[in-house]
Amino acid sequence: MKKIIKNGTIVTATDIYSADVLIDGEKIQAIGQNLSDIYAEVIDASGCYVMPGGIDPHTHMDMPFGGTVTADNFETGTIAAAHGGTTTIIDFCLTEKGKSLKSALEKWHAKSAGKAAIDYGFHLQIAEANEEVFKEMPQIIEEEGVTSFKIFMAYKDVLQADDETLFQTLITAREHGGLVMVHAENGDVINYLTIEALKEGNTEPIYHALTRPPELEGEATGRAARLTALADSQLYVVHVTCKEAVEQIAEARSRGYRVFGETCPQYLVLDQTYLEKPEFEGAKYVWSPPLRDRSNQEILWNALKSGELQTVGSDHCSFNFRGQKELGKNDFSKIPNGGPFVEDRFSVLFSEGVKKGRISLNEFVNIISTQAAKLFGLFPRKGTIAPGSDADIVLFDPEVERTISVETHHMNVDYSALEGFKVIGEPITVLSRGDFVIKDRQFVGNPGKGKFLKCGKFNHDSHKETGKAEDLINR
Ligand code: URP
Ligand code: ZN
Ligand code: ZN
Repeated sequence: MKKIIKNGTIVTATDIYSADVLIDGEKIQAIGQNLSDIYAEVIDASGCYVMPGGIDPHTHMDMPFGGTVTADNFETGTIAAAHGGTTTIIDFCLTEKGKSLKSALEKWHAKSAGKAAIDYGFHLQIAEANEEVFKEMPQIIEEEGVTSFKIFMAYKDVLQADDETLFQTLITAREHGGLVMVHAENGDVINYLTIEALKEGNTEPIYHALTRPPELEGEATGRAARLTALADSQLYVVHVTCKEAVEQIAEARSRGYRVFGETCPQYLVLDQTYLEKPEFEGAKYVWSPPLRDRSNQEILWNALKSGELQTVGSDHCSFNFRGQKELGKNDFSKIPNGGPFVEDRFSVLFSEGVKKGRISLNEFVNIISTQAAKLFGLFPRKGTIAPGSDADIVLFDPEVERTISVETHHMNVDYSALEGFKVIGEPITVLSRGDFVIKDRQFVGNPGKGKFLKCGKFNHDSHKETGKAEDLINR
């Protein structure tokens, strides 16, 4: 079935122009003026931007964590993502020590197959350094289409891996075309500070933030960057929150190292005071790293603008307030860490970024879609509007004013961390590989229609930064 999108303004990471888009089946066939095809359904995009679908490089669907399981699974989470203008997610597959990497992927395929409404890929956690793991990693890259590997430097005794694991993962990734991702916080020191806080009777949600100061994010980010330089490898730092971490990434990049960074909408618009809300409501804002002092927000925006940070992921990891966040009622360290953002990532970045003049329209598309496609080996299939690319397209009305609320969102969670937040702009119609998933704001897709995406290897040519390891190590 063919479709032609007419009367819209196409926006990519590099261009803004008026043209029609002809879609044949799953792909964009042509872009041009006054396109016509008698067999094509015409979609009127008057007043809308025609943008590549958002790519969210950081989600946790159906994930066991903190003594419970995230509230959104691949069905509810991807439907919510589609409502929010996202047509691809890359989800984190957790591994179990002593079990094969392949068995972890099988588990994640079982969770997602037949459920996802949009396309999805996986990052794979590396939990421990052993011979089997590093023998299997190259096969995973070559055969499974999973090319990005996540190391948690925090969550001691749960997910945390040691520096040897990080270093060996970096070396294996360099040799086989992988990209290493880190949750950069010093988990050992956080563990000590947490025990001390609890000993003193400090159990409220705010102590989650006070026991995870920004210095510990900066320290871990710098450590990971230096190990990356030593291994001559490539690193992607997830959910960057603060000046201390941005500085480490900027410095590594200024020396030519292949270090990339992501921040999240929550760090761009919320701050640490939310954890002080009374009646345990602060628990709604407990995730890691924690929300920071407001002064960090402009630092993060500037880093996105300057290209020191490349992407905005949602870190969508939803837990209900009732029954799930409440697990930590008398002990902040037992509050499941995570928040619901997959639906609002696109609109918050547009409204707070483009509408407030912090980033340009092209930069918005680059950050919300194109850069993630390039970093995770999906470009140009995803991340742009061009002949031959998948027809993952958002018709976005840039003038609608609306208020984010649990009453209207589609995420399977009983609160919005952005309740009452006003945004300008809304995805009206969303296509995934040529099919409508959202039409005039209504979900019309099919859970199960989303396909697993094999990601390509890390492409050095898309990211020219190279450098000499000694510079960074000798400082
Ligand atoms: O608190 C968070 N961010 N939960 C999800 C797991 C992670 O650290 O990304
Ligand atoms: Zn994390
Ligand atoms: Zn996460």
